[in-house]
Amino acid sequence: MFKPLDDFIQQQAWLETAAGPLQAWINDTFSRAGGAGKTTKNLLNGTWLGHPLHPVVTDVPIGAWICTFVLDTLAGMSDSSELRTAADITLATGLAASISAAGTGWTDWSDTYGKDRKVGLLHGLTMVTAVVTYTVALVTRLSGARRAGVILSNTGLAVASAGAYLGGDQVFDLGYGVNRTAYHQGPSDFVPVLSESELETNQPTKVDADGRAVMLIKQGGQVFAMDDTCVHAGCSLSGGRIEGRSIICPCHGSQYELDSGSVINGPATRPEPTLSVRLRNGMIEVKGE
Ligand code: FES
Repeated sequence: MFKPLDDFIQQQAWLETAAGPLQAWINDTFSRAGGAGKTTKNLLNGTWLGHPLHPVVTDVPIGAWICTFVLDTLAGMSDSSELRTAADITLATGLAASISAAGTGWTDWSDTYGKDRKVGLLHGLTMVTAVVTYTVALVTRLSGARRAGVILSNTGLAVASAGAYLGGDQVFDLGYGVNRTAYHQGPSDFVPVLSESELETNQPTKVDADGRAVMLIKQGGQVFAMDDTCVHAGCSLSGGRIEGRSIICPCHGSQYELDSGSVINGPATRPEPTLSVRLRNGMIEVKGE
């Protein structure tokens, strides 16, 4: 991020003050809704899609509003009422699509922490400002004050662009939403990591497999191995809780099947990498895919 902007954001203590209660309110709302809340959160996170949903749906309002800008510019040059109408339609389309962008964005943000949480909150508030500006712009246009409406929508595009910059920074600079195991590989052949007798049943245990942190779990005489780093935000899964044939991450509650690593509940959207396991001479050996 542009350094003076980064410094400015870090000086904004109010962002941290506001973030805690807001995150608690969002998460409490999902929790109070029970199973329906969990299903809704999985839907908004993109767990069902295998990819975060927010960056997918944000393309619609941003694209629509860029069309509004282009159509307004062309309408200004040609004095075409059809182009003016088309510009209003794309503006309204962007506003309608911003509902799903907001729902997915605030849901993702509710599981952030640290610097990511501050930048994310500013990103969200900036986008809310853009939506309010566009709403006023649409009302102003429809009431006949065309010129003022166009100025307002152009202002909205500038605000939304600033918000998009902050959102992009969250991913490309701070790493929000990236697969935290993307570069984890190997070992390419089986390596011994722990003696069989040392692994207790239903006790997640972290071991080192040629430099890769791996979690072992023994259940029903079978040993499962998966990467110890949670794909969502990097927490250690060996600090998690077992539920049936699954492990629940201690940080934000992502739940993975032990045998396949498939995501049962988010916020994770990708499967947790698993490793092959074999038992040799009283030792547990693992191998990466
Ligand atoms: S780090 Fe967020 S669910 Fe595991």
